[in-house]
Amino acid sequence: MAKNNQNEIDIVTTEKSKINTVDFNNLIFGRVFTDHMFVCDFEDGKWQTPKVMPYQAMSIEPSARVFHYGQAVFEGMKAYKDDDGKVFLFRPEDNHRRINKSAARLAIPEFPKDYFFNGLEALLNADKDWIKPGLGNSLYIRPFVIATEAAISASPAATYRFMIICSPAKAYYNAPVRVLFAEKFSRSADGGVGFAKAAGNYAAQFYPTSLAQKKGFQQIIWTDASTHKYLEEAGTMNIFFRINDTLITAPTSDRILDGITRKSVIQLAKDLGIKCEVRQVSVEEIKNAAKDGSLKEIFGAGTAAVISPVSAFEHADDVFEIEQIPNSYAMLFKEKLMHIQHNIGLDEHGWRYEVVSK
Ligand code: COI
Repeated sequence: MAKNNQNEIDIVTTEKSKINTVDFNNLIFGRVFTDHMFVCDFEDGKWQTPKVMPYQAMSIEPSARVFHYGQAVFEGMKAYKDDDGKVFLFRPEDNHRRINKSAARLAIPEFPKDYFFNGLEALLNADKDWIKPGLGNSLYIRPFVIATEAAISASPAATYRFMIICSPAKAYYNAPVRVLFAEKFSRSADGGVGFAKAAGNYAAQFYPTSLAQKKGFQQIIWTDASTHKYLEEAGTMNIFFRINDTLITAPTSDRILDGITRKSVIQLAKDLGIKCEVRQVSVEEIKNAAKDGSLKEIFGAGTAAVISPVSAFEHADDVFEIEQIPNSYAMLFKEKLMHIQHNIGLDEHGWRYEVVSK
């Protein structure tokens, strides 16, 4: 094992890479993990020396608070490689800001910015062969924090583990998705944790989503918890509606994730002269627009999902099929984003972050 220390990180690299066992043309999202992982423990009131080490199982006490109270938050990011082998992240400062915002809501200590960036750089350098060039290829990066203290009284932990694992990725959804508008279940409520990437926000969607899947819909578009009249987000992605030539998306709030792809789409729309209204959007408005033909598109926006078109929605037993139009806004934004991410297009807003090769 090679061992060295860069930026005060203990780095131990693997003796035997498993990269040759991976079929990069047939990846299922989030099933294959790279050779290394980043680990940093919070003990005695401070973050300890971070490590990059071979990806491996780890031992945690069964009484660790994360297993009992779900004190856990995460992020989703991607690394891209251009045709010259340069590696880029997309707006990573926003991920760092957001994981700390999520952490604060769950009484988890903030993770220092230099640890986050040095850790990412060391890990991506160790695993750089796993980042394949070409549009549509990326390395999905999953930073997360869990409460590790062995104690089951219902209070915040004194010890935590911050980790980053990586998984080579292509599309999250291989085809346009069919969605159901929520009528009974809720994802989040005012004053809750809906804005945070809290692990429990995702677990809470699994049962209602499994019911939707039995009816032939892959995802739920969540509505506001008190009236179920306003469309909010899809859980794996924020959501945009196009009525005639105007885009509409819900404003962020303490119920909705402040998506980095979402805000990039809003900015790109502005750059392209496409009207984008950030306002409440009702189920009734979208059903009426579907009936009178003015609803042209619905699409989701997220790191994993990138831009994913919606091909049908259901509400109160009414099913509306959405014709997939040529030259859609969804495809326009997807191409613009991917070109910026892969160092092909002009990066007017400074969203690309080059990971220096070491
Ligand atoms: C992401 O887009 O990074 C997410 O965290 C969504 C997740 C369900 C894959």
